[in-house]
Amino acid sequence: MRQPFVAGNWKMHGALERNRGLVADIAEGAAEIDGVQIAICPPFVYLDQLHALLGGSGVALGAQNGCAEPEGAFTGEVAMPMLQDFACRYVIVGHSERRQYYHEDDALVGRKAARAVSCGITPIICIGETLAQREAEATESVVTGQLQGLLDSAGHEVLGKAVIAYEPIWAIGTGRTATPEQAQAVHAGIRRWLGEHDIAADALPLLYGGSVKPDNAAELFAQADIDGGLIGGASLEAASFLDICRAAARVDR
Ligand code: 13P
Repeated sequence: MRQPFVAGNWKMHGALERNRGLVADIAEGAAEIDGVQIAICPPFVYLDQLHALLGGSGVALGAQNGCAEPEGAFTGEVAMPMLQDFACRYVIVGHSERRQYYHEDDALVGRKAARAVSCGITPIICIGETLAQREAEATESVVTGQLQGLLDSAGHEVLGKAVIAYEPIWAIGTGRTATPEQAQAVHAGIRRWLGEHDIAADALPLLYGGSVKPDNAAELFAQADIDGGLIGGASLEAASFLDICRAAARVDR
């Protein structure tokens, strides 16, 4: 059975001093929460700090990006094997902010996912539609098109070892969440597509991301095909992040 999974994506937030208190509070609260895989994905420069702070806590560490190449002359990039040095269990790839601002496409995101898997790191692959695409009723074709592009690039084996995060772009950082029914419909479509393409659909964790807060998390996580969340803003406060983790723990599957 799929274990609920909640990952905090700090995006470009954090500071040495502030991280200490936040991570200590999260680790302390997480120790009381059973049955949920919890991860934090800070900016690269804080991986070392969080690796030390999280040691032995059961909260996993993840990065927000990683390079598709193993090493070499790629100024400003961080290689997946470097993430291994800091015991990163996860790496987010293809977040919509990277697709939008840094022009990452499915082919590149698939190569990043493959590199992560070859390093023993689970990629959290993000997909999702824009508001214009949703209003044009193109959500399903956009999302399955992204999955096909990822499959073409990364292959079955890699996709079968990934976590997929459905993040409708119009819900990210806007306070406008997909309704549980909207999110469930897309998640069910993703799971159906994976099954049709011989990828272990029942085992693959599917996360929802986009303005998940303590007051809407329980309803979202109660949906049959939503296995947890990728949390932005609400992961920057221990109390709200832990409330969301508790909501995942309460889901009766
Ligand atoms: P918010 O939770 O701030 O909307 O961000 C969602 C997200 O992009 C997580 O990756």
